[in-house]
Amino acid sequence: MFNDIIKDRDVEQMDDNELLSLIDKERLPRHVAFIMDGNGRWARERFLPRIAGHQEGIESVREIIKVSIELGIKALTFYAFSIENWRRPEVEVNALMRLLEKYLQSELKEMMENNIRFQTIGRIKELPESARRWIEKAAHETRDNKKLILNMALSYGGRAEITDAAKLLANDLKDNKISMEEITEEFFAKYLNTHGLPDPDLMIRTSGESRISNFLLWQLAYTELHFTKTLWPDFRRREMLLAIIDYQRRERRFGLTGEQVNRR
Ligand code: FPP
Repeated sequence: MFNDIIKDRDVEQMDDNELLSLIDKERLPRHVAFIMDGNGRWARERFLPRIAGHQEGIESVREIIKVSIELGIKALTFYAFSIENWRRPEVEVNALMRLLEKYLQSELKEMMENNIRFQTIGRIKELPESARRWIEKAAHETRDNKKLILNMALSYGGRAEITDAAKLLANDLKDNKISMEEITEEFFAKYLNTHGLPDPDLMIRTSGESRISNFLLWQLAYTELHFTKTLWPDFRRREMLLAIIDYQRRERRFGLTGEQVNRR
């Protein structure tokens, strides 16, 4: 594999076009998930309010969507607001909700033009009504778009998602709609918020933290993890290309031996 002989130092020195030429379009991750961390630190470094970091973070979201379409990636999931984030100061929570609404208002036209389907995971009913209305409108109007799935995790927690799925399943079992024998991993996954989406092939977390933080706990079982020190508002096209190159250098074994994988 020619990628293996290229040292990290060389890759860092390449320009974006050279990086692009290293990417194998046949082995792209189908679904990439992001923990967008470091907005607050980005703002603090510039003596700006935290919300300015979130605002700049939205520019990164826009750019990552653009480069993903350019490459041919089919699905993106962004961890925009966790269940734990409700405990942040009220002014920050309110500002994040307003940013979300503004984003959906301004981006809906672009989503239609670029054939992007918008959807969400998480306890959406906990969001303010005005944000919910925009979410429903965007999800409804983009439902037939095919190029890219843009999935926003909002009021999301992995344990909450699994617990909610277990409750729904228990209810169906109690009502005799399903039988105990039917319950397999695949069957259970249908009760998760992500049903219909492939599991992420790659999960990227920015800002130097190496944790999962209750994100997609079920779905990340075999996902390649990429951690970078770059703060989310600085995570743009070049960083994304580097992350894809890093992903393509990994050997995904799904529990098999290296020899078995190479024989397939
Ligand atoms: C973590 O950074 C980031 C968040 C809690 C929110 C992420 C939200 C956005 C990028 C904007 C919302 C997106 C859309 C599309 C509406 P942090 O605040 O924890 O940063 P810190 O660790 O440096 O303080």
